[in-house]
Amino acid sequence: MSSVVSDGYRRRIRSRELFYALLLLALLLAAWAAWQMLGARAAKRGVVTDTAPTLLRPPFSADVAQPLPERVELDARRVALGQQLFHDVRLSADDSVSCASCHALAAGGVDHRARSVGIRGGVGSVNAPTVFNSGFNLAQFWDGRAPTLEAQIDGPVQHPLEMGSTWGQVLSKLRADAALVQRFVDLYPKGLDVESIKDAIATFERSLITPNSRFDHFLRGDKAALSPPEQHGWVLFQSYGCASCHQGINLGGNMYEKMGVMGDYFAHRGNVTEADKGRYNVTHDAQNLHEFRVPTLRNVALTAPYFHDGSAGTLEQAVAVMARYQLGRELPETDLHDVTAFLRSLTGASLEVKTP
Ligand code: HEC
Ligand code: HEC
Repeated sequence: MSSVVSDGYRRRIRSRELFYALLLLALLLAAWAAWQMLGARAAKRGVVTDTAPTLLRPPFSADVAQPLPERVELDARRVALGQQLFHDVRLSADDSVSCASCHALAAGGVDHRARSVGIRGGVGSVNAPTVFNSGFNLAQFWDGRAPTLEAQIDGPVQHPLEMGSTWGQVLSKLRADAALVQRFVDLYPKGLDVESIKDAIATFERSLITPNSRFDHFLRGDKAALSPPEQHGWVLFQSYGCASCHQGINLGGNMYEKMGVMGDYFAHRGNVTEADKGRYNVTHDAQNLHEFRVPTLRNVALTAPYFHDGSAGTLEQAVAVMARYQLGRELPETDLHDVTAFLRSLTGASLEVKTP
């Protein structure tokens, strides 16, 4: 019976099936690639610059932002030791400055100066970012030159305009403190050394999270946690495209972006400095000129002035500059109001100033 259908005919059928199967596969692959490309573009920009704000799109997706965790697991004794060191002026050359001098924990983790002032009144080149939630950032510093919180600490301790010290000096001062040495011996196999100092401070910094902002409650499903203007501000924040750069757990901190995507911010501001080159100073790649690690917007209501150059004195100014230079938009007064109202809902519960 099988001889009725010749072997050659069967082979032809089989190769035609194979042809259609391959064609289908190719089509599927092409569709998938196109989908990926569109998705990647949307993720890169997510910007609806050509859409009037009255034609708001719904939030791009639920994973634009996530609430901060309510607690992190850390060795409480190392946290306490790091807290002490964070406030210890012996880390500076002339015992005048501690980490807390520029990162005041009762003041949003910043110094409220356009540019920080270190030992002997030396003025630095950039604005001090907050230390709160800094452990969630992809790298440390405006240009991301320190990969970890531990590595970051070399910066301020040795910077001539910050603490102006050396690790040798710091070690000899701290080793003269028998009680402190004992605490290190209790907690670290090698006792007090540069590595254990960095570990203690970084561990303390990782404890500096500010969960349970009203926005976090909102993200967890309590829609009444934000007022109607704040909720509208959150919708605008996404539809204008702010969230294409300020996103994730920290509403920022997870990518590098150019300052001045839609206009030459630096030409308009004038007096371009080395620090203005941003990420270029790390990579020496022209593509990275004027790129900065997108800053977190958590607790942003408490951390004026804004930008790496401290040039924006108020949140309203900062948001207007962002809209103009990052999105090519001038915000109507009501939108500016609602977006800043939303940003003010990002203050963590522990930092929220209670008004009676
Ligand atoms: C004189 C002021 C000053 C002192 C003292 C100081 N900092 Fe800073 N801190 C700054 C400035 C300014 C920056 C930003 C520098 C840059 O990006 O180039 C910064 C950046 C940081 C960052 C990165 C935050 C981020 O989001 O990128 C951390 C973390 C930090 N400092 C922790 C510390 C610790 C820990 C100490 C003490 C060992 C310390 N700082 C001492 C001013 C200071
Ligand atoms: C293309 C990416 C991008 C977009 C879009 C964007 N930002 Fe930014 N944002 C940045 C970068 C980069 C910085 C840091 C710039 C600097 O310091 O020079 C910044 C800084 C800020 C700051 C100052 C934070 C601080 O601690 O100094 C605020 C506030 C801010 N953005 C809000 C917004 C708002 C609101 C929008 C939408 C209207 C927006 N951003 C759109 C990338 C972006």
